[in-house]
Amino acid sequence: MARILTGIQSSGIPHLGNILGAILPAIEMSKSNKNESLFFIADLHSLTTIKNAEKIKHNTYATAAAWLAFGFDTKKNIFYRQSDISEVTELMWILNCFTPYPMLANAHSFKDKSENLSDVNSGLFTYPVLMAADILLYDANKVPVGKDQLQHLEMTRDIAGTFNHLMGETLILPESQVTENFMIVPGVDGRKMSKSYDNTINIFADEKSLKKQILKIVTDSLGLEEPKEPDTCNIFNIYKLIASDDEIENMKKNYLNGGFGYGHAKNALLELILKKFSAERKIYSELMENTEEIELKLKEGSEKAKKIASSVLQRVKNKLGI
Ligand code: ADP
Ligand code: TRP
Repeated sequence: MARILTGIQSSGIPHLGNILGAILPAIEMSKSNKNESLFFIADLHSLTTIKNAEKIKHNTYATAAAWLAFGFDTKKNIFYRQSDISEVTELMWILNCFTPYPMLANAHSFKDKSENLSDVNSGLFTYPVLMAADILLYDANKVPVGKDQLQHLEMTRDIAGTFNHLMGETLILPESQVTENFMIVPGVDGRKMSKSYDNTINIFADEKSLKKQILKIVTDSLGLEEPKEPDTCNIFNIYKLIASDDEIENMKKNYLNGGFGYGHAKNALLELILKKFSAERKIYSELMENTEEIELKLKEGSEKAKKIASSVLQRVKNKLGI
């Protein structure tokens, strides 16, 4: 059985791009009986940039609620909050002492921000070591990540290799599993949907806000009566990612026939999102109104995670005589 582990940045309410591009494929993978999945919310990593308790809490809950709403099975798998397992920071210190300074100085995540060094905190500098600890603490075999995280995975393998070389075989070297995004969900402006572009659709928002986001979708200015090209239309390109084959065909006809305006198309998209995700929206709002429920799930996950973490940490400490 392969142990798959990945950290989820908790930087806000997951948008449609995060859901279709990351959450649903990860949940699908976690269903296999050949895998045991450990998914955690990387709240300690978010401390490098966020310094607001309410925000950190809210982001953690919103992220967890989205995964739970889409049916992530927390009985079969392990779902936890990084900061609940204090062993991770202890292991991080130990790994720091096996990490050459130049390796960290060469990390893209640091280099990209190093022009203005007075704005860089040490947490940002040692971010890859915390990530190595996240992975090595659980004997993870496979780590699904986006391409931007590959260098961090290489560092993890290097650090584990150095430890094993100096102290004897102790840590498992993980394989990265690149999640090429087969599906890039476009945002309301046609660019990749991303928090950083402020072009997201938040399917968990109340109907009024959701409508507002959908109304912002950029289109050309063809009039109501004119036939329209579906494939170059931002509304259609989002619609087709969630609609059934029949709905897509129908929508295509409406575009090509004319007499169907972009306002109609936006309305159809709104209706589709409300219908398609009605169960998930309901679970999400119930969880966000009752965050103790989320705490309970995370606590159950933390208990399972802690068992693995404490035994691996003990193995490491035994090798070090501490
Ligand atoms: P954002 O770009 O909004 O900051 P993140 O970088 O936090 O999103 O991405 C979290 C996960 O969601 C990653 O696995 C990423 O590949 C996936 N993802 C983000 N945006 C999209 C998108 N528009 N289409 C498909 N997947 C996406
Ligand atoms: N740094 C990762 C990101 O930005 C999140 C993360 C933290 C992670 N710890 C991890 C991913 C461990 C995989 C394994 O997306």
